[in-house]
Amino acid sequence: MNGLKRFWLGIPEQIRHLLVPLAIVLAVYTLAHHLLVPSDFGLYGHYRASSPQQNADFRIVYAGSDSCTGCHGEIASRKKEGYHLGVACETCHQPAAAHAEDPER
Ligand code: HEC
Ligand code: HEC
Repeated sequence: MNGLKRFWLGIPEQIRHLLVPLAIVLAVYTLAHHLLVPSDFGLYGHYRASSPQQNADFRIVYAGSDSCTGCHGEIASRKKEGYHLGVACETCHQPAAAHAEDPER
């Protein structure tokens, strides 16, 4: 006990005082890390392990321009010669995956 106290008092005073804010910063960092980082982060890489599944579960709403040409081939070939050749069909006609699957929708 005496040796520990002597070691502590042997450290220059200004360094001992700096250890207090250092301890506070470390404590705040550890607490924030514990509270803010999701538990499955970093399991496989630098991302949440549940993130790929969450994204795969999103309902698909865009069909993509290629899927329109099968039924609207005439419009697609007309579009290729027009000013809007670089604009995807669904940019103007809203997400249409449901329509591409069932044209009545
Ligand atoms: C399986 C065939 C098929 C696919 C694939 C398809 N459509 Fe259609 N689409 C139709 C049919 C049939 C109609 C006409 C429906 C009606 O008259 O009620 C139609 C109607 C439309 C209309 C409305 C036309 C009007 O006169 O109001 C738009 C806009 C349209 N389609 C855009 C798209 C887009 C964009 C895509 C690609 C994402 C697409 N369609 C994919 C068959 C298809
Ligand atoms: C720049 C916006 C834009 C893009 C890109 C676009 N359309 Fe259109 N589309 C329109 C507008 C506006 C109309 C209505 C035209 C009218 O009433 O004369 C229309 C009309 C239609 C119609 C109704 C049928 C008809 O002959 O009027 C269909 C079907 C259609 N588009 C399908 C498509 C498909 C498939 C693509 C992609 C290959 C596409 N559109 C790309 C704006 C767009």
